Amino acid sequence: MVGSIAWLVSLMADKGQRRYGLHDVTQLQHALQSAMFAERSGGTPALITAALLHDIGHMVHDLGDNPAEAGLDDQHEMRGHAFLARHFRPDVTEPIRLHVAAKRYLCAIEPDYFTLLSPDSVLSLGLQGGPMSPPEVAAFRAEPYAQTAVRLRRCDDAAKVKDLPTPDLAHFAAYLAQCHIQPEAGSQKPTRHNPVP
Ligand SMILES: [Fe+2]
Ligand SMILES: [Fe+2]
Repeated sequence: MVGSIAWLVSLMADKGQRRYGLHDVTQLQHALQSAMFAERSGGTPALITAALLHDIGHMVHDLGDNPAEAGLDDQHEMRGHAFLARHFRPDVTEPIRLHVAAKRYLCAIEPDYFTLLSPDSVLSLGLQGGPMSPPEVAAFRAEPYAQTAVRLRRCDDAAKVKDLPTPDLAHFAAYLAQCHIQPEAGSQKPTRHNPVP
């Protein structure tokens, strides 16, 4: 396994033990369920990788398990994008960057979508800007990875089931390897600001 993939898998196994929002699943269970649904839907390796890593931004801050309860938007989609952009292709990182926008988009265009959101998604929605306005909807649709982000969002929304069996991290690591950008020879060692080796 490539070093940075092994490092990410280890990070998820460790930090993923935190509770996922208000749910009876951990961050890791949520990630594995998201990836499983992406795989079952016939998703590409990039979509499956994005589904596995979409909330890694929650694992790389120290704002607690559920900052939304304290009225904070942790901007985890941007943290995750910044954390992964040097190591994965845009077809992985762009849907991750857009997965919160996809929720705001679906709230604006699908009347029933909001009613199906979990309580913590409703709570964070308010902090994230609420349903998109018509100009925001148009801008979202113009994003090259908008539809992939919507597919990721559907997997994300379904992935909050207590005790649902899933494949393990090793199973999904193979997809990460397919989408990984190989570091150039002599590239930097990990640092606090550039942590993935
Ligand atoms: Fe998220
Ligand atoms: Fe999520």
